[in-house]
Amino acid sequence: MAKNCPSDKILNPLTGRCVKKTGNIGKALLKPDKKVRLTPKTKDEVVVSPPKPKRRVLSPPKPKRRVLSPPKPKRRVLSPPKPKRKVVNYDKKRNYLNSSFRKFIDPNIPNLHFTDIETLYISNPRDCRWRNNWLFHHKDIYHICDAYACIGGDTIQFMKIKPKAKIDAVQLVDTSDELNERYERLKSNIKSCSFLNSKVRTYPLSIVDFILAGKCKLTDFLYCDPPWADSKGVLYDCPTLIENLNEDIINPLNTIRTYPKYICFKVPFEWVQFSPILANLKNYNLKNSGSFHWKGYWMHVIQVKLPAKV
Ligand SMILES: C[S@@+](CC[C@H](N)C(=O)[O-])C[C@H]1O[C@@H](n2cnc3c(N)ncnc32)[C@H](O)[C@@H]1O
Repeated sequence: MAKNCPSDKILNPLTGRCVKKTGNIGKALLKPDKKVRLTPKTKDEVVVSPPKPKRRVLSPPKPKRRVLSPPKPKRRVLSPPKPKRKVVNYDKKRNYLNSSFRKFIDPNIPNLHFTDIETLYISNPRDCRWRNNWLFHHKDIYHICDAYACIGGDTIQFMKIKPKAKIDAVQLVDTSDELNERYERLKSNIKSCSFLNSKVRTYPLSIVDFILAGKCKLTDFLYCDPPWADSKGVLYDCPTLIENLNEDIINPLNTIRTYPKYICFKVPFEWVQFSPILANLKNYNLKNSGSFHWKGYWMHVIQVKLPAKV
């Protein structure tokens, strides 16, 4: 049964006793919104447990704000620069060479026959003016040997400069069509320039065999424009070129008893690099030399004489 308490007291439902409204227990009982756990220790005691900490309502974790750093500049991976492929305009070169022959040698020279690759070998008369001028003024030259004749670029120039001279044009042939056809082009080009009046003989031979067979007995001027590169187009270095010239020209010359008066080399090396070749020229004394440089190649003319007999 509910117990009636005086107006200044309130009923403690746990003990059934009236407690003062102003006391701790009464105050706690009077706070309706506060959840009060009344755990009795003794009969009149109410333990007011401290209010539970408010449950933190965990809002779902805010998505982390991605701090957008400015985009890193893409690393340019530098590949080594591609070598620029030199595109050779062979038709342009062909026209240029033919017009150069007409301009510097003779206006009646017809178009010469040569392949694309041969446009890179032929001596342009424009660039050979020093040599041609030198030849013109050497009146002691009656017999010329063009040791590496190719399609006759230099031979035709000699025909004009020395119209009374005899000229031997030596071009290597072998089992390959390329060289055999080159030799045919040499013959046909010389034929088309026969109006220049020189007496030219062509030889389908290696210059080594030509010299060893004693065919340069009467040669006054031995002209050497050897290949400067291997079959892949890689330029020879100076020692390799000297070795080739020793093999082709100097060693064979050392075995014979008659000698040209002059030897001329067209090479891509200056005299100081190139001159060691003379050390092997056993039967000769170097009497005089002239060198001329033009756009990356050199013409070295050596005048030779037999050593004086002691
Ligand atoms: C640079 S080209 C000469 C170009 C020539 N002076 C011209 O103006 O037309 C060299 C030539 O020598 C030829 N050759 C290479 N070795 C030779 C050798 N041992 N005897 C003769 N000719 C050779 C090559 O086949 C090539 O045609």
